[in-house]
Amino acid sequence: ITVYVPRDTAAVAMGAHEIAQQLAAQAQERGLDVQIVRNGSRGLLWLEPMVEVQTAEGRVAYGPVQTEDLPGLFDAGFLQGGAHKLCHGLTDAIPYLKNQERLTFARVGIIDPVSVADYQACGGFEGLSKALAMEPAAIVKEVTDSGLRGRGGAAFPTGIKWNTVLNTPAQQKYIVCNADEGDSGTFSDRMLMEGDPLCLVEGMAIAGLAVGATYGYIYVRSEYPLAVQALNEAIVAARAAGWLGKNIQGSGCEFDLEVRKAAGAYICGEETALLDSLEGKRGVVRVKPPLPAIKGLFGQPTVINNVVSLASVPVILAKGGAYYQNYGMGRSRGTLAFQLTGNLQNGGLVEKAFGVTLRELLYDYGGGSASGRPLRAVQVGGPLGAYLPEHQWDVPLDYEAYMKINAMVGHGGLVAFDDTVDMAHMAQYAMEFCAIESCGKCTPCRIGSTRGVETIQKIRRREDMDNHVELLRDLCDTMFSGSLCALGGMTPYPVLSALEHFPQDFGLAPQTEQ
Ligand code: NAI
Ligand code: SF4
Repeated sequence: ITVYVPRDTAAVAMGAHEIAQQLAAQAQERGLDVQIVRNGSRGLLWLEPMVEVQTAEGRVAYGPVQTEDLPGLFDAGFLQGGAHKLCHGLTDAIPYLKNQERLTFARVGIIDPVSVADYQACGGFEGLSKALAMEPAAIVKEVTDSGLRGRGGAAFPTGIKWNTVLNTPAQQKYIVCNADEGDSGTFSDRMLMEGDPLCLVEGMAIAGLAVGATYGYIYVRSEYPLAVQALNEAIVAARAAGWLGKNIQGSGCEFDLEVRKAAGAYICGEETALLDSLEGKRGVVRVKPPLPAIKGLFGQPTVINNVVSLASVPVILAKGGAYYQNYGMGRSRGTLAFQLTGNLQNGGLVEKAFGVTLRELLYDYGGGSASGRPLRAVQVGGPLGAYLPEHQWDVPLDYEAYMKINAMVGHGGLVAFDDTVDMAHMAQYAMEFCAIESCGKCTPCRIGSTRGVETIQKIRRREDMDNHVELLRDLCDTMFSGSLCALGGMTPYPVLSALEHFPQDFGLAPQTEQ
């Protein structure tokens, strides 16, 4: 009997290692033959540790399982899918999962993350196999046709970025994966790396073939030790199976890569600071141009993409750009892995085509607030994203539609707050975050964020209100226009959205909140 117990950080934090150990021991005591597979998470995080049992009808889910539940589960015959208060029936029939459109995360939680055989049994390496027989320009075209845009937050068209690198001649080019997932409320990169690391390896190898790069680096957040471990195991397995190295599957094509542990600073997720850090220097933002695509790692043309962007490439090559392009709306094509966090009953990962609304994600998937109180504000797109009040929750999640309301979809992370939130405090927090994480290279961000904290504190104390509110707006304007990178440049989004939509929290007359 096959039983799945995730090795994902979210499950491990809730005791998955102990569950796996105890389950094996108790099965042995009962004389039962159990094979435990340590899979990734299915993304139903409120059910972790979620244990799944393979039955003839499919996998049956139990969760959240604690060690004290195990004897009862055995007595209830859970190895045959038996009824129990923790049983959720067939995993694939749980609406949270059933109603998703999983393209990039299709295998996450399904397979043993570091088994090449499992990976290939679920369509793995089909994309790379096709790419091995294609001209570089044709690979780039397929990615361009898919409409894929950078999933790290900036949404720059991936195909155009690759094309720049392809057309820049050099002795050596690189593929760098930005896995320094530092935004609050985001975990999709981690879940992918822990649940399907071979998918990222495959995406990077395809990128290498597309632009003529033979080596890659995955720069992984230092707080993600389990992702580093899964990636390293996956790379060894891929190399042993001939999917990495000097002569991939006998094609004569070459690509290899390694994992680098990040330096532990938020700013090292900014692409040019990341490159400095990879080169062994202190991570400080570089002035652009030159773009990394022209002069990147060690001064060479470099594709630098986020984890989810690169992990979306295998399915695009395997099924064609048109297949991927078929999902989504407007210029936002394909799917995004939304991450539901904060004050929600059912936190987790929901991969859906662009066009879904915040309200659907919050209620149909998230199940409303965890506290039982009304939801009031949602921050979308990480700590540099705007706070959205309820009257904006029906705007479709689409890059352009969000830009129109001065918000951003970003990396797809949502943090929900109920009606006890003090939005002036959240605005202050945004400035504090910027002050702490600033690399210090430019004045609007380095000095502006500290002045911003002080000014919001004065507003919260109701000191000389008119002047200080005007000053805060001016300061945001300066940071927005004068900062060198997104940290200083986008901190105004959470601050100004809080001020605009929740003025009463700043002691001002309510205006727009409905
Ligand atoms: P950007 O708009 O400057 O650049 C986007 C990407 O396109 C970069 O890789 C850039 O090098 C590339 N690019 C631009 N023009 C190009 C051309 N002609 N040819 C080839 N490549 C070209 O944005 P940036 O500063 O890279 O990212 C800002 C975003 O990062 C924000 O939206 C923010 O949400 C997000 N972010 C994400 C975090 C996370 O944990 N995922 C953390 C912090 C910020
Ligand atoms: Fe550094 Fe902030 Fe300027 Fe970015 S905006 S370069 S983090 S000082």
